[in-house]
Amino acid sequence: MSDATEFHDRALSLGLARVAEQAALASAKLIGRGDEKAADQAAVNAMRTQLNLLDIAGVVVIGEGERDEAPMLYIGEEVGSGQGPAVDIALDPLEGTTLTAKDMPNALTVIAMGPRGSMLHAPDVYMEKLAVGPGLPENVVSLTMDPAARVMALAAAKNCATGNITVCVLERPRHEAMIAELRTTGCAIRLITDGDVAGVIHCAESETTGIDMYMGLGGAPEGVLAAAALKCMGGQMWGRLTFRNDDERGRAAKAGITDLDQIYSRDEMVTQDVIFAATGVTDGSILAGIKRELGFLTTETILMRSKTGSVRRMTYRAPSH
Ligand code: FBP
Repeated sequence: MSDATEFHDRALSLGLARVAEQAALASAKLIGRGDEKAADQAAVNAMRTQLNLLDIAGVVVIGEGERDEAPMLYIGEEVGSGQGPAVDIALDPLEGTTLTAKDMPNALTVIAMGPRGSMLHAPDVYMEKLAVGPGLPENVVSLTMDPAARVMALAAAKNCATGNITVCVLERPRHEAMIAELRTTGCAIRLITDGDVAGVIHCAESETTGIDMYMGLGGAPEGVLAAAALKCMGGQMWGRLTFRNDDERGRAAKAGITDLDQIYSRDEMVTQDVIFAATGVTDGSILAGIKRELGFLTTETILMRSKTGSVRRMTYRAPSH
């Protein structure tokens, strides 16, 4: 007989999709309104309310920040009805607050759930990230290779010229040297202004998105969310935390991290099977954004389970109030 407190990812997955949908719907009114904080707050409130309806004993491990800086969905907050399996939750109610405020592509609401202890408790610091899609030799590229060497190795594995490789990179001054080095290989670089969860996910569907590899420094919490997505879709990813000061090193210690130089593989960031849901807020290459018709809003959600590798796309039409 099955134990009611076990993590049944199949039964919980639809509930998780609803959580992502509600967060997106709540931010709909704030797309293109220039108010990042209000958009984020609306998504946080809706995600938390919907999450608390689920029959889980959930703990937020990747959330809005430390308890003293985030009143809701902070790291360690208990969520759900408390009646059900003990699960870890990683979430970003609005991944791409600026993208939403400016109505730019690829803003998403994102949530992943797995058994307790399944996801790295990443502190709020930067992570150096590297990702490629499925179907490639194991460790075809690595964080210890130079950026240009990664492009050459990937091109060799794909049996194409380096000029046919497209790398996705967050456009930041800290990436200028890396971009200059990548340019020496003749590869194309898709620069994004924000949203590196979507940036990494793009690698898993390179035929649709045109992106073969993701690299660069972005938020560590977003790194774990991206690893959860790739665990479901296939693809390889590595991450290494980077620290700018003692406060950031202290955050790692608080999260229980002792080896500050460790390179985490995808499966070291997400150690057990998880479910992942994301809903498009603004149009993107992976998900359509929220559509408005008179009296209705329509969302598109991707819902995935790593146990089976299943990827579902769901549209939801909700009356708008
Ligand atoms: P927000 O949605 O919280 O604004 O984060 C967006 C984001 O672009 C992430 O996708 C990325 O990991 C991080 O910010 C990069 O941080 P920074 O803007 O400091 O370079």
